[in-house]
Amino acid sequence: MLVSANEMLKKAKAGHYAVGQFNINNLEWTKAILLTAQECNSPVILGVSEGAGKYMCGYNTVVGMVNGMIKTLNITVPVALHLDHGSYEAALKCIEDGFSSVMFDGSHYPIEENIEKTRALVKLTGEKGISLEAEVGAIGGEEDGVIGMGECADPDECKRIADLGVTMLAAGIGNIHGKYPANWKGLSFETLAAVSEKVGDMPLVLNGGTGIPADLIRKAISLGVSKINVNTECQLAFAAATRSYIEAGKDLEGKGFDPRKLLAPGVEAIKATVREKMELFGSVGKA
Ligand code: 13P
Repeated sequence: MLVSANEMLKKAKAGHYAVGQFNINNLEWTKAILLTAQECNSPVILGVSEGAGKYMCGYNTVVGMVNGMIKTLNITVPVALHLDHGSYEAALKCIEDGFSSVMFDGSHYPIEENIEKTRALVKLTGEKGISLEAEVGAIGGEEDGVIGMGECADPDECKRIADLGVTMLAAGIGNIHGKYPANWKGLSFETLAAVSEKVGDMPLVLNGGTGIPADLIRKAISLGVSKINVNTECQLAFAAATRSYIEAGKDLEGKGFDPRKLLAPGVEAIKATVREKMELFGSVGKA
């Protein structure tokens, strides 16, 4: 059964570790992440972007697939199914379709509009026991070949959003989605410490988990980060393993072209990546 991310993140914040959000793209991704969470006895958050939701034939299809797998694979660790960087409309749709957690990313709106929309979703999600993530300070990343540096959130704005009663807050601290460019300045721990002080017990979310060095991850957790999102790193691991399989000519041997064989090394690579992150985040054994 899917659960909200509320309990697992409260426990993570109190226990000084972080729960990983791993984005899913298809059946293989979902199975790999769920099996690894179970093997690691770790809580887990499955992230679904709007684009991935469309790719997987709609949020209702995703809910059906994830619920089916939890049952058939005997997954007993806490699993939250979470909309990643959703619009207001996407959040409403996911709530209707059975997600247990949603993110409304209003960071590109003026703060008053971000507050008003987040406030409406606090009410709706609260009535249904669904967890809600809000964001202040846009996360950078690549758009049309240009890598935008992540913004640093205003700690006072963070407090205003946190006080609305959201479950978790993503605050920009110079982090970006995708690979970090060579001239990246690192995370702004000054911002993180200031936000942390303002929002107290509120679990904080670190987006753009791919490629952040382990020591920076540990420091972020020590300053109140309780949820870390990883997407690109699983994609890179999957692609590299699939490339090796094909470059070694294995798809041409026997029934090596069978998708169940062809995709297997990629699945193992995702599993290894997720395990490595769960160990780094400290969530192993915390289910
Ligand atoms: P990466 O793709 O950089 O790991 O970021 C994932 C993320 O933050 C999803 O919201």
